[in-house]
Amino acid sequence: MDYQILKIQIADRIALVTISRPAALNALNTDFFKEFNHFLDDLEPRDDVKVLVITGEGKSFVAGADIAEMVHMNSAEGYAFSTFGQRTFDRLEQLRIPVIAAVNGYALGGGCELAMSCDFRIASKLAKFGQPEINLGMIPGYAATQRLSRLTGLGNALYLILTADTITADDALRIGLVQKVTEPELLMEEVMKMASKIARNSSQAAPTSKRIIRSGIATDFKEASEEEAIEFGKQFDDEATKEGMKAFLEKRKPNW
Ligand code: CAA
Repeated sequence: MDYQILKIQIADRIALVTISRPAALNALNTDFFKEFNHFLDDLEPRDDVKVLVITGEGKSFVAGADIAEMVHMNSAEGYAFSTFGQRTFDRLEQLRIPVIAAVNGYALGGGCELAMSCDFRIASKLAKFGQPEINLGMIPGYAATQRLSRLTGLGNALYLILTADTITADDALRIGLVQKVTEPELLMEEVMKMASKIARNSSQAAPTSKRIIRSGIATDFKEASEEEAIEFGKQFDDEATKEGMKAFLEKRKPNW
């Protein structure tokens, strides 16, 4: 596919996707979702990529869904626009490998929803977060009404969605919406360092941890803990696990 919006770089087991539509502050339109799904089609079967990093070009991560596209929609089109986005973000959330959002600037509306669909978020000090849909007379459409409360608690989700307040990266850190804040010029360096650290680990442990954490939160504790025990047991047939433990005992780095 000839990508117009996504810039994709794959190197050293890390895929870096930069959303690049700077004239509209990287707002998400239907073309973005088509390109992104195509990229996921290509990425999902690959076993040479261990981590995905998503960032935005310019002063914005993503300033929301594309208002210029939405303004012409009727209710059926609005529903389709919402479900297409939701399905895409669910797919991202369920991706086998870990996904890091490197939030460089505005993460508003659909941009905050995209960031929340990643496994964790590292933000530049210049990043700004919010769900300003109510200012447009609408509600969020890419599942912020669900993910925000799960990540930050009911009070923070209600506060952000009902007031449409834009918060700083430090405030986002305080409420658990982001996991780390960096100096703007160090954002990509720090995120790529984290990504390489994850990519260096044995191939199974990170994806399995992700899957059990994510599926566990949607089921009950006992059932999910049993799933953990099953996966924990399976590892003992895996050479990578044996190598990890042996390397520790032999005081050397694992040979993965
Ligand atoms: N959709 C379409 N175009 C957008 C956009 C969006 N979400 N956000 C910014 N743009 C465009 C602007 O229209 C402008 O285009 P022109 O130069 O052609 O006029 C360009 O990007 C630059 O934007 P500004 O001039 O507004 O830049 P600024 O620095 O003054 O302000 C901003 C930056 C505070 C992020 C402001 O652009 C803004 O408030 N954007 C909208 C944020 C928003 O409401 N997001 C939620 C969208 S709804 C949604 O996401 C629903 C959902 O959940 C599915």
